[in-house]
Amino acid sequence: MNKTSFYFAFLIITLAVISCNDKTPISFNLDNTIIENAEAQYTVLSDSIISTFESKKFIPRTTNNKDEVKLVGIYDWTSGFYAGSLWYLNLLTNNPKWENLALEYTKKLDSIKHWEGNHDVGFIIECSYGNALKRTPSKVFDSVIVRTAKSLATRFRPNAGIIQSWDASKKWNCPVIIDNMMNLELLFHATRISGDSTYYNIAVSHANKTLENHFRPDNSSYHVLNYDTVNGGVLSKNTHQGLSDDSAWARGQAWGLYGYTVCYRETKDKRYLDQALKIAEYIKNHPNLPKDKIPYWDYNAPALEKTPRDASAAAIAASALYELITYLDDKGQQYKQFADEIMTNLCKAPYFADKGTNAGFLLKHSVGSLPHGVEIDVPLNYADYYFLEALYRFKNTH
Ligand code: GLY
Repeated sequence: MNKTSFYFAFLIITLAVISCNDKTPISFNLDNTIIENAEAQYTVLSDSIISTFESKKFIPRTTNNKDEVKLVGIYDWTSGFYAGSLWYLNLLTNNPKWENLALEYTKKLDSIKHWEGNHDVGFIIECSYGNALKRTPSKVFDSVIVRTAKSLATRFRPNAGIIQSWDASKKWNCPVIIDNMMNLELLFHATRISGDSTYYNIAVSHANKTLENHFRPDNSSYHVLNYDTVNGGVLSKNTHQGLSDDSAWARGQAWGLYGYTVCYRETKDKRYLDQALKIAEYIKNHPNLPKDKIPYWDYNAPALEKTPRDASAAAIAASALYELITYLDDKGQQYKQFADEIMTNLCKAPYFADKGTNAGFLLKHSVGSLPHGVEIDVPLNYADYYFLEALYRFKNTH
């Protein structure tokens, strides 16, 4: 080998080594085609369900085994997400078509404000009416938020200091799921509107009790805690949708991250910010997190090609992180990169659906409840909702 060939070979090897070790962070690029594709998909989805609007089930939740849209009624826990996605499409595009549709689907949920049978009224009404208020101030919508908070407050169990998620069953006396952290936003909102601190105080009590009881030393969370409503103690720690009582169900970790980020926004209590950061660290550094950052449905599920991913958990986490970083200084950069990586991957195959496929839903590859054999590797309306919210949050901070 002469001297020139030696230097040439040396240069090629050096460049190859540099590119293998390239840790250049991925930045998310929100170009217009992403939003155009989202509009095209939701046009397919909304056109396909228009004729069923008058039936009891008219809200798209997922697909069935024939890849057709599966519709649900207003008492399904996911009933507010479709309206919420339409609001975010409208906020992202200013296209009045989405506002008109969002208004229709929001108003259909009005009677939920009186429902005391489930904690999910927070999800349902905050995602629909709460987002409607981002577009237009309205005393009527304000009153729906406050009335719903009043219904949700009936589920507060003062001796235990928590909001009961589901009614008592053979298995649980007073179950509280980590998902319930997501219903607190409505309570904070209701206090801001009404000036009645009852709702704020209930939210803070629930957040504090969850902080005390729901987390393990590694900052992962249990899914279900069963409380004694008389002495306030914890009777058992279990799962409903996770791999096992001791596992870290992926969406549950994302609900916790999002919930404590909201609690910090509303209270400025540093303990909530710390908890959100601890959960973000748990997710970001988990040895089972795949390279594309879209988690398996449970962090303790085997890290195998065939193990289903949960795109919904990824979208919820990305949206939460885009808010969380607004409360951080330079330290936030690592979480921004993490969220950017999630969003970059969700915006392309195999997660973002090809035009006209996936029954019009945006994202593929989410899991509803694997232990129940329900909604495994499917689109879900809440995956789309938090994906669109993440796009909106990203757009507003860039
Ligand atoms: N809140 C129910 C779920 O995340 O599946």
